[in-house]
Amino acid sequence: MDNPAAGTWSQRFTTTLHPAIVQFNASIGFDIQLLTYDLTASQAHAQMLGKVGIISPTEAQQLVSGLEQIRQEFLQGQFRPGPDQEDVHLAVERRLTEILGDLGKKLHTARSRNDQVGTDTRLYLRDQIQQLQQQLRQLQLALVSLARQHLETIIPGYTHLQRAQPVSLAHHLLAYFHMAQRDWERLGDVAGRVNISPLGCGALAGTPFPIDRQYTAQLLGFDQVYANSLDGVSDRDFALEFLGAASIIMVHLSRLAEEIILWSSQEFGFVTLTDRCATGSSIMPQKKNPDVPELVRGKTGRVFGHLQGLLVVMKGLPLAYNKDLQEDKEALFDTVTTVKSCLEAMTVVLQEGIEFQPERLEQAVGEDFANATDVADYLARKGVPFRDAYNLVGQLVRTCIEQGKLLSDLTLPQWQALHPQFAADIYQAITPRQVVAARNSYGGTGFAQVRQALDQAEALLGPAHGLV
Ligand code: ARG
Repeated sequence: MDNPAAGTWSQRFTTTLHPAIVQFNASIGFDIQLLTYDLTASQAHAQMLGKVGIISPTEAQQLVSGLEQIRQEFLQGQFRPGPDQEDVHLAVERRLTEILGDLGKKLHTARSRNDQVGTDTRLYLRDQIQQLQQQLRQLQLALVSLARQHLETIIPGYTHLQRAQPVSLAHHLLAYFHMAQRDWERLGDVAGRVNISPLGCGALAGTPFPIDRQYTAQLLGFDQVYANSLDGVSDRDFALEFLGAASIIMVHLSRLAEEIILWSSQEFGFVTLTDRCATGSSIMPQKKNPDVPELVRGKTGRVFGHLQGLLVVMKGLPLAYNKDLQEDKEALFDTVTTVKSCLEAMTVVLQEGIEFQPERLEQAVGEDFANATDVADYLARKGVPFRDAYNLVGQLVRTCIEQGKLLSDLTLPQWQALHPQFAADIYQAITPRQVVAARNSYGGTGFAQVRQALDQAEALLGPAHGLV
């Protein structure tokens, strides 16, 4: 037997595996990331085997200690299984057998790699979801701090990327706070369906041994066990849901990234990029580029790709386990790494990567007709039907454009010529500050509303996140 991989399988096999097939089959290169979860799940399995009397309590204890030794060896860099070990599960069993002799071979009683890999993947994802939720909190904190500084800053609000109505910059930033809040909640919802134990489903049909699935589930902190063994070993909807939630996080990050890219362009000039987070050009000395938000926007495609990829892997699979399922892991691992890095980078950009330009913003909100709705609202409040007021103001805007004027340039006689209801208070009603302040409906951009929304956002983050 010159090929160690051939030694894995039963005496049914007479020749060694082709070396190319060894490589092709192996998942150890990436599923090594599951190692600590595999050890924990195996320890629970061993304890259960001891508890129900499938092995003796002493044997169970020895298995648990042997697995603990592997954990230490791994943490100290001594256990580094190579590609000749097909996957992390076989690598652990082999090392355990080196340590404990024949006893190591008892660990796999009453389980299969199929329920094992499902268990490990869920434990991994459960941990990662918690870490992602913490990172979302950091992003929210950065958004709220920035919003607090800019409650009174006014920025053009857009629809169709055309100037529409001015808004408080805090209101704009808090929109992303709320998206992140739903992302956080969505991950929590997904976690509920990740946290179900498939351990004990066996290869596909359960096991003839008197196992205690509730016990292993409880040891591993699962909320429930899969009620159907075929479903338990072949379900990956928990992974799809996670990839969906991760994709939506990326949609939100990407939209924010796109706005920062636009805002930092010379055409907008709403923010400047600080030297901490921007990069230069290798040829154009004057350039300062928004590489970080661009990368976030770019990496979004990659995460969507993983969701699409796993959907396609799953759609044609007959029950139960098929090796195709090994393909779920790189999608999950890369998604986790990518989303984590993007959340971190965007948080840093918000904290110290952008500086809003108050003068430019003030100029921007004063240079257009974004207060036209307020003129119509003014008349509507005085009893003119809104649609009539809307049409009148439309004519007025056209005349102003023809004459190169803004609404605020009109004289009182000009206003009154248009409609007798206009009085001197029209000037105050159409200043950008008043236009924003007036929108005091619940959830609107009125300063009083935004102040309340900020208080609520801070209360939601709470003292645990550095806010009181
Ligand atoms: N490496 C495999 C995976 O990731 C583990 C399960 C193997 N099961 C099997 N029946 N070949 O899916």
